[in-house]
Amino acid sequence: MITTVSGFIETGNIMIIPLFQDTLKAPNNTTTGLSRSASITVKSAISSDSFEGKEGEIISIWTKECQIILLGMGVTDKLNTKKSRDIGAKCFSNLPDNLGRKIVVRFTTGWNTENMASFAEGIILRNYKFDKYQEKIDDEKQHKEWSMVCQTTKRNRENLDLEIERLSAIATGVHLARDLGNEPANRLYPEEFGRRAKNWAKGKKNVEVEVWDFSRLKEEGMHGLIEVGKGSIHKPCMVFFRLNPNLDTEMQVPCIVGKGITFDSGGISIKGSAGMDEMKLDMHGSATVFGLFQALYATGYQGRVNGITCMAENMPSAEAYRPGDVIETYSGKTIEVLNTDAEGRNVLADGLWKASELNPSYIIDLATLTGSIVVALGHEATGLFANNDLLSERIKMVGDEVDEICWPMPLLPAFEKQMTSSKIADVRNQGKGRWGGAIQAAGFLKQFVQERKDNNGEKNQIPWAHLDIAGTAGIWGGESNSTVGHGATGILVRTLHLLITKY
Ligand code: BES
Ligand code: MN
Ligand code: ZN
Repeated sequence: MITTVSGFIETGNIMIIPLFQDTLKAPNNTTTGLSRSASITVKSAISSDSFEGKEGEIISIWTKECQIILLGMGVTDKLNTKKSRDIGAKCFSNLPDNLGRKIVVRFTTGWNTENMASFAEGIILRNYKFDKYQEKIDDEKQHKEWSMVCQTTKRNRENLDLEIERLSAIATGVHLARDLGNEPANRLYPEEFGRRAKNWAKGKKNVEVEVWDFSRLKEEGMHGLIEVGKGSIHKPCMVFFRLNPNLDTEMQVPCIVGKGITFDSGGISIKGSAGMDEMKLDMHGSATVFGLFQALYATGYQGRVNGITCMAENMPSAEAYRPGDVIETYSGKTIEVLNTDAEGRNVLADGLWKASELNPSYIIDLATLTGSIVVALGHEATGLFANNDLLSERIKMVGDEVDEICWPMPLLPAFEKQMTSSKIADVRNQGKGRWGGAIQAAGFLKQFVQERKDNNGEKNQIPWAHLDIAGTAGIWGGESNSTVGHGATGILVRTLHLLITKY
């Protein structure tokens, strides 16, 4: 979407006028550029009792110049970026598609830059469809992009323009993550993900992508990833993302790790068929890592950042791993496999150990890891586990700021103990019962974060956070995330972008 900022000049095909509650009279600039008769109609609609300006209220007025939408924003003092983003996104999702695709948004009175930018961001984020596999019936209509002009008074224009440019750049990362998440598993498998990452890096001076293929994984002894992926004809791989790799090489920088199961059938411990199609989304952790690097690149971030994605397809076959098998992971620790459907943690074991080797400032992993976190938090929040309070608090704070809620969950020692009490291996990949399944999984992952000496010579684990996005990665007809209509959400690209660029 091409977005520009200007004064109150053109009227576009669709003019959105967001207004606050108790607007008795059309604010200045409301009807600039409209014909006299249209102007009178709009002004009288605003003054009338039929428009109150309540949150989300909509009145649509037809004029010869354009379709006009009066949009209620509620009480001025109560507006915040979340509300503004949500109302913008919802309004965009209801726009008619047959009137031309130039939107004008008139921010008249009562607006600050933050709220205006978030309103525009809601529209930009919501302007997404995954329709590449649908027949294009009306070619011209399909290919015409939406454009948006945000109109405001002179003193706001420069700041708003800069802020919208930044948010648009981040949105390209969100949309890329959604594209990857939505891609079906017969189109996007581990090697294909690696190929796309390589292609993405082509021609970009300050990014580097490296792919470790199946034979390299064997050389390195990454059997956590190998065992999960070897049952598929599409072999596993590990993809490394590096932004500004030659910068500040002596400094510790973040490393973000993604679970990338391009399809999770459950393997030999096969899942039931209901909803199994959704398991094409089981690589959303990796999709978010890829999208994050796009967002960082597009906003011109000047720091060094590392990303690792653990890509595999979990399939049952003659060559698949089985319950009862013992895996020797990259760390040297062994895993007793009790359930092949608890595969995410096996691949992350190698990813986290590798991340630790990079001596990072902190490690964050993202994973559609457990059904249990969906039971706990529904689709409203990502589960946040961490071995470090400061890191946890920061993630929570930036998540709140961009409205991607990360809810702190406890790493209770009792569950960790379940995972380390295998009779024949170092850890087991399933707990001792259903209860606390998401915490069990987190306790398992914790075994694969390395310790190192801190400044006081004390041995401590590298600061690490685990984000269980099983409930927030996808929307299948739900409504919890107003910036998405259907499918992959691109969750946490915006949160991690803010975390990395702000701290
Ligand atoms: N990918 C699933 C978790 C999942 C469930 C993601 C629902 C998105 C929506 C994961 O690999 C899985 O199967 N987890 C099992 C673990 C169990 C076998 C210990 C689960 O949560 O049931
Ligand atoms: Mn599984
Ligand atoms: Zn899975």
